[in-house]
Amino acid sequence: QIGEHDTFMHKEIHEQPESLRRMLSGRLDDRFATARLDGLQIEARELRKFKRVKAIGCGSAYYIGQLGASMIEDLARIPADAEAASEFRYRNPIIEPDTLYVAVSQSGETADTLFAVNEIQRKGGTVVGLVNVVGSSIARACDGGIYLHAGPEVSVASTKVLTHMGVGFALLALALGRVRDLSFTEGKRILDGLRNLPDQVAEIIAKEDEIASVAKELTHAQSLFFIGRVRGYPVAREGAQKLKEISYLHAEAYQASELKHGPLALIIPAMPTVAIIPDDELVDRNIGALHEITARKGKVVAITHSEIDLEGTEVARIDVPRNEVELDPLLLTIPLQLLAYHVATALGRDIDRPRNLAKSVTVE
Ligand code: BG6
Repeated sequence: QIGEHDTFMHKEIHEQPESLRRMLSGRLDDRFATARLDGLQIEARELRKFKRVKAIGCGSAYYIGQLGASMIEDLARIPADAEAASEFRYRNPIIEPDTLYVAVSQSGETADTLFAVNEIQRKGGTVVGLVNVVGSSIARACDGGIYLHAGPEVSVASTKVLTHMGVGFALLALALGRVRDLSFTEGKRILDGLRNLPDQVAEIIAKEDEIASVAKELTHAQSLFFIGRVRGYPVAREGAQKLKEISYLHAEAYQASELKHGPLALIIPAMPTVAIIPDDELVDRNIGALHEITARKGKVVAITHSEIDLEGTEVARIDVPRNEVELDPLLLTIPLQLLAYHVATALGRDIDRPRNLAKSVTVE
C-alpha cells in the first residue's frame, strides 16, 4: 500500500494532473504566445536554423517521440520523425548540422540513448534532452534540454513521465513554430490548450471505474489490436506496449490505414480492437475502418470523444474531453494507462515489476 494506492503505477497515473501543473508552471509565455524554455540553451533566433527534427529514445520514449514529431510537423512545419535509439546507434546514421536531435528518456541512463547522443555530438550534431531525472548521464551529455519535472517514477511501466514527454514536445513544437510561421493567435490557442490539459487529465482519471469495467471484458482476449492513424498511431503503439508490458497479453499496434493490407485476416471475436479515434480530419476514414472490423465480427473498444458518432461500430467506448487537435492525442493515452492497469490487475499480475523487464536498461 502506497498511501491510498495499491501500486506505484496507480499512484503515478493519479499524480498526473498535479505533476503536469508543476511542469507547465513558468513555461507558458503569454506575452509572446510561446514556450519559455531557458534550459534549451538555444536562442530563439538560432532555433530558426533547424531544418529537420529527429527524436530518439527507447520503448515508450520512442513512441512518444513519434507523436512529438507529428506535433512539430503540425505546429512548426519542419520535417520531423522518430527512431528507436537502439537502432539509430548501430546503423551509421547521417548526422546533419541543421537537424535538431531530441533525446527522450525518463531515467536519463538508457545505454542505447546515451550512446546515440554521444555519436550525434561526435559528428557535429546538436542534441537537446527531454529527460526526467535531473543530473542524469543523458541530461548532462546533451547540449541543453527541457526537464520534465514529473517527480520520481518507480513503476517499470511509464505513465506520468510519458505524458510529460508529450507535453515537452508540445512546448518544443510551440517554440519552434513561433520563430517560423505559427501566428500569435495560433500560439495562444496552444498555450490555452496546455493550460486546460491538467484538469482534463483529472476528468479522465475520474472515469476509472468505467474504464475498469471495459478492462474486465478484455481479460479473455486471445490477442488485441490497437489501431490509430497519423497522430493516433503512436498512441496505439504506446497503448499496446503498456498492455503487453504489464498484462502479458499479446497486443499489436497497426495503422488503421494498413488494416486491409494484412491484419484484417486475423479479425475474429476473440481478437478485439482498441481503436484510437481523435476528432481530426481523418475521423471518417477511421470510422470506415471500424465498419471493416465489425463486418468481420470483430469487437471494437473506441477511445474517442463524446462528439463523435461511431455509427454503432463499437461495443464499448471511453470518451475523453476535447482539447486542441495537436494535444488531443495526449488525452487519448490516459485511458490506455488505466485500461492496461485494470486488465493486468484482473489477471493478478505484478503491476510494478513485470517479469523480465527493468525500469532502466543501462547495459547494451
Ligand atoms: C525500457 C523500459 O526498458 O526503457 C521502458 O521498460 C522505457 O518503460 C524504456 O520506456 C526507456 O527508458 P528511459 O528511462 O530511457 O525513458
